[in-house]
Amino acid sequence: MAASFRQLSPTFAAEVGGVDCAKPLTPDEVAAIEAGMDRYAVLVFRGQDLTDAQQIAFTRHFGELESYNTPGHIRRRHEQRLGPGIADFSNLTKAGDIMPADDRIWFFKLGDRLWHSDSSFRPVPAKYSLLSGRVIPTWGANTEFADMRAAYDALDDRTKAEIEPLVCLHSLIYSRAAIGFTELTPEEREAFRPVRQRLVRTHPVTGRKSLFLASHAGAIEGWTIPEAQVFLRDLTEHATQRKFVYSHQWRVGDLVMWDNRQTMHRARRFDDRNEVRDVRRTTLAGDVATIEQAA
Ligand SMILES: [Fe+2]
Repeated sequence: MAASFRQLSPTFAAEVGGVDCAKPLTPDEVAAIEAGMDRYAVLVFRGQDLTDAQQIAFTRHFGELESYNTPGHIRRRHEQRLGPGIADFSNLTKAGDIMPADDRIWFFKLGDRLWHSDSSFRPVPAKYSLLSGRVIPTWGANTEFADMRAAYDALDDRTKAEIEPLVCLHSLIYSRAAIGFTELTPEEREAFRPVRQRLVRTHPVTGRKSLFLASHAGAIEGWTIPEAQVFLRDLTEHATQRKFVYSHQWRVGDLVMWDNRQTMHRARRFDDRNEVRDVRRTTLAGDVATIEQAA
């Protein structure tokens, strides 16, 4: 059965039918899903009851897994609940208990409730992320996505010209400071040194331009910090208007795949003191630093 697409939002996002993500894909299926990603930027696969190994295998049809030796996650390997290749975005400790509210790992996770693009704080940011819903709370916990191509297209010409050459600095230091979490160790500050990212990206296949924003962006080269932060906040407000947003309401067995080069996303709140949310992410490495892309 061929993959079918049903668009979920006026400008982007689609639900995919006819694909079993637990099984190896044919080259035609891979091509159809990649074309769907280029067009819709967010794809939702319902009813996919995946093991971690199956999620990793599905992800690898579309490129190489992102892997870093430097900590992007604060938890060290032996403190982690899941094996290599898949990241834990639950509110659980390694022992399977709900994480204490004052756990600093939880503080890092809370930063994901701000709009962002995965790994924009890395020199080469992520391509796709794939999030699998294993345990879903009874209330809240949507993931919202914003179409950064539609947001770019809707800018006035003067703003488009102004932002074309701009380079932002991205770091976990900025996004965590935005929620008042500033108690980082010297090692963390070193690991989270800001990286340069273009503010305007061009999609390598479609040629469409998009805004590359994230709460990780805290400075613009050549600008003062207050000028940069007020401008980035203004652009983020523009880009996250409801007309550019798809809000995903999770069901157990959903696999949601998004293109970090064309979208931003954020997690929404839930009863994280009393309910478990177990979602697991695989991430595909990007292939080029945005700074090397022609303006
Ligand atoms: Fe994220």
